[in-house]
Amino acid sequence: MKLNEVIEKRHSVREFKEKKVKWADILEAIDTASKVPFAGNINNLKFIIVENQELKNNITKHCQQTWIADAQIIIVVCSDETKLEKMYNERGKIYSRQQAGAAIQNFLLKITDLGLSSCWVGAYSDELIKQVLKIPEFINIEAILPVGYGKGTIKKTRKAALENIINWEFWGITKKSSRTKDPTTW
Ligand SMILES: Cc1cc2nc3c(=O)[nH]c(=O)nc-3n(C[C@H](O)[C@H](O)[C@H](O)COP(=O)(O)O)c2cc1C
Repeated sequence: MKLNEVIEKRHSVREFKEKKVKWADILEAIDTASKVPFAGNINNLKFIIVENQELKNNITKHCQQTWIADAQIIIVVCSDETKLEKMYNERGKIYSRQQAGAAIQNFLLKITDLGLSSCWVGAYSDELIKQVLKIPEFINIEAILPVGYGKGTIKKTRKAALENIINWEFWGITKKSSRTKDPTTW
């Protein structure tokens, strides 16, 4: 698929078919996730692949979202911010979260490209998920990504209009001044 088609097609899916997901597809999507920009080119992310139903049920319980258990595979994205803090001090923490977000989006786009579906889940008990998956205390859980073949109708969410998110030259300036240079002439 063309990049734009994949971006338009990606939507959060919370209903899955029983059809098995290919390992190769999951590994390809994780590989795509690891191709994002990383501060200092330090990839501090780990992806836990969960297929065991009992573990999936436990994760579901600690997210308090019943639909998650129906996913064929759950990917838990983790980061080690200490690696970035060593290099960038306090800002390392911010970089760590930012690059995890970029990786998650790459993952979701590749999943869509492969005909699979997912949803970025951010509501969970960090403590209880860490207990279930034996994740060390100092590691951050960045997202839980249930993956499967989607079913049901996909609810297309409304996105912000361009004019509502753009400011010109300064914060809060929503109208382009006639003095703003035409970027094509820069
Ligand atoms: C940081 C973050 C946390 C989210 N947490 C959840 C969640 O816990 N459960 C859920 O069903 N969706 C969650 N979502 C998905 C959003 O609800 C969804 O992306 C949004 O409604 C826009 O819909 P779309 O993804 O189809 O464009 C989360 C998304 C983000 C970016």
